[in-house]
Amino acid sequence: MTRWGEQTLVADRPTRRAGRGRADPVTLGLPDGTELGIRSAVGDDLPGVVDLHERCSARSRNRRYHGGSARLAPARMRRLLEPARGVTLLATPTASPSPVAPVVAMANLLGEGDTAEAALLVRDDWQRRGLGSALLRRLVGQAEQRGYAALDLHIQAENTPMLRAVRRLGRPSAVDRDGSLLTLTVPLIAAVSPIRAALDLSVATR
Ligand SMILES: CC(C)(COP(=O)(O)OP(=O)(O)OC[C@H]1O[C@@H](n2cnc3c(N)ncnc32)[C@H](O)[C@@H]1OP(=O)(O)O)[C@@H](O)C(=O)NCCC(=O)NCCS
Repeated sequence: MTRWGEQTLVADRPTRRAGRGRADPVTLGLPDGTELGIRSAVGDDLPGVVDLHERCSARSRNRRYHGGSARLAPARMRRLLEPARGVTLLATPTASPSPVAPVVAMANLLGEGDTAEAALLVRDDWQRRGLGSALLRRLVGQAEQRGYAALDLHIQAENTPMLRAVRRLGRPSAVDRDGSLLTLTVPLIAAVSPIRAALDLSVATR
């Protein structure tokens, strides 16, 4: 067992304040010393996110989308990048030989009512380095900031890495099983109601 889940971040430094409906960009340090930028996705990230999906194995895409390993239609991908409620975070290595840093992971938070749904996709060659656990913790933080009462995760029962990442949160979660699909519900400590959070954001950015 690794110690990643206990403290994946050696650094998690805000780099600037985020705009409305976005998360503050931060620099994340993995236990092996690699640094990544974590920021909210924008529409222009579509090619990078398409590339992320292309470079993932069929198994990873299947575990993320539960519906075969087919590629997502660009329109659906665009909606994922800038959700009406919630946030999408992207991870890019800070040191990259290519002029445009590749997107190596995506974390989605989609809000509905007083609950948010979370999902992750880490590129296969970046898995098992603590990135998934770190992103999940950031999604929990984002959901709490936005005032959601609980976080739902739909996870295939055989998906050990994701189940371990959730367990590493150290929060009790309720589990509901529908065949091979588990829904884990993690209660959150919402600071404010989602309506209040939305109002605060809109006032702050006027
Ligand atoms: C699930 C996923 C996000 C985890 O990302 P990751 O960067 O590999 O996660 P971490 O490195 O933080 O590892 C999380 C835990 O899983 C374990 N783990 C990672 N890869 C593993 C593997 N191939 N086999 C067994 N355990 C594994 C780690 O050891 C760690 O557990 P520990 O802290 O108890 O040791 C990533 O594997 C992924 O994108 N999978 C495909 C999409 C998916 O399954 N999404 C989830 C749908 S909600």
